[in-house]
Amino acid sequence: RDEPVGAPKRVLLAAPRGYCAGVDRAVIAVEKALENYGAPVYVRKQIVHNVHVVSELERRGAIFVDEVEEVPTGSHLVFSAHGVSPMVVQSAAERELQAIDATCPLVTKVHREATRFAKQDLQILLIGHAGHEEVEGTMGHAPERTILVNSPDDVARLEVDDPENLVWISQTTLSVDETMETVRRLRERFPKLQDPPSDDICYATQNRQVAIKKVAPQADLVIVVGSANSSNSVRLVEVALEHGARAAHRIDYSSEIRQEWLDGVATVGVTSGASVPEVLVQEVLADLADAGYLAVEEVRTAEEDLMFSLPKELRRDASGNA
Ligand code: F3S
Repeated sequence: RDEPVGAPKRVLLAAPRGYCAGVDRAVIAVEKALENYGAPVYVRKQIVHNVHVVSELERRGAIFVDEVEEVPTGSHLVFSAHGVSPMVVQSAAERELQAIDATCPLVTKVHREATRFAKQDLQILLIGHAGHEEVEGTMGHAPERTILVNSPDDVARLEVDDPENLVWISQTTLSVDETMETVRRLRERFPKLQDPPSDDICYATQNRQVAIKKVAPQADLVIVVGSANSSNSVRLVEVALEHGARAAHRIDYSSEIRQEWLDGVATVGVTSGASVPEVLVQEVLADLADAGYLAVEEVRTAEEDLMFSLPKELRRDASGNA
C-alpha cells in the first residue's frame, strides 16, 4: 500500500492453503480404486473442482461422467467429494455399479442434519449456491422440506410454510461473513429460526479465509490458485478484495499471470483453494521469483492436521474381505 517506488518485491504466502482433508481423501480414493480394480474407474462429476487434478486422473484411467446412466453396468463408480443425493445412490445400485463414496465426511454431516431436520418436520433453509453439486446433493436428502437461499438479498423474497418451524444449514464452502449476514437477515425476518448444532462451513474453508484476510490488507495483488467452478477458491478472491487487496485474480496455472498485473506491485499475496495441489502454487512462486519477487514470507493463521480414513468400500477391499 502506497509503497515507495522501488519498494522490495515480496510474496506473502497464506497458510493454511491448498488441499483439505476431504479433497485429499477423495483424490486418493480414485487413485486407490484405479490401483485395486484397474482402469477404467468411473467418477460421477469432477472428483474435486480442479482442472489439473481431473486431467491427471483422466490420464491414469479415470473416466468422468455427469450421470450414473453413462456408466456401463457393473463398473466401479466413485461419487465425488461434493456428495450425492439418495436418488443417485439408488440409480447406481439399480445399474449394479460398484459404488465408492468419496463424499467428504463434513458434507455427509450436513446430509445427516438435513435428513434429521426433515424428520422433525422442520423446514430447512439451505444457504448455498444454486446449481452447485454439493447443494444438489444436500437438497436431495430432504427435497420436500428444503428451500435454497442463494444470497442475503434472497431473504426478503422467501416464502416459508411456518415461520415458527425453521432451521438453517449451509453449503460447506461459502464466505463466512456473507453467510453470517444471510443468517442475520433470516433471523430478523424469522426470529424463531433454529441454528444447526455446529458450523456447516468447514474448517478448511474458514481457515483459508482467515489466512487471506491477514494477507490482503498488505497486498497490492492477491493471486488465488483454483478453478473457476471451485466455490471456496472463488470465495477467496472475494474475501481478499473485501479485506483490502488492491487487486485479486484467480488462476488455474501460473502461465495465466499477466505481466500487467504486476505493474507497480511490491507485495503479492498468494493462496490456493482446498482442491489445489501444492505443486501449482510452487509454479506460481517460481514464476514470481523470475519476475523479481524473491522474498517469500509465510503468513500462517492456523495449523491443520485433520485426516479422514478412506471410503469404507476401499478399506474393505484393502483388507481382502471384498
Ligand atoms: Fe470437505 Fe471442506 Fe474440503 S467440506 S472437501 S474439508 S473444503
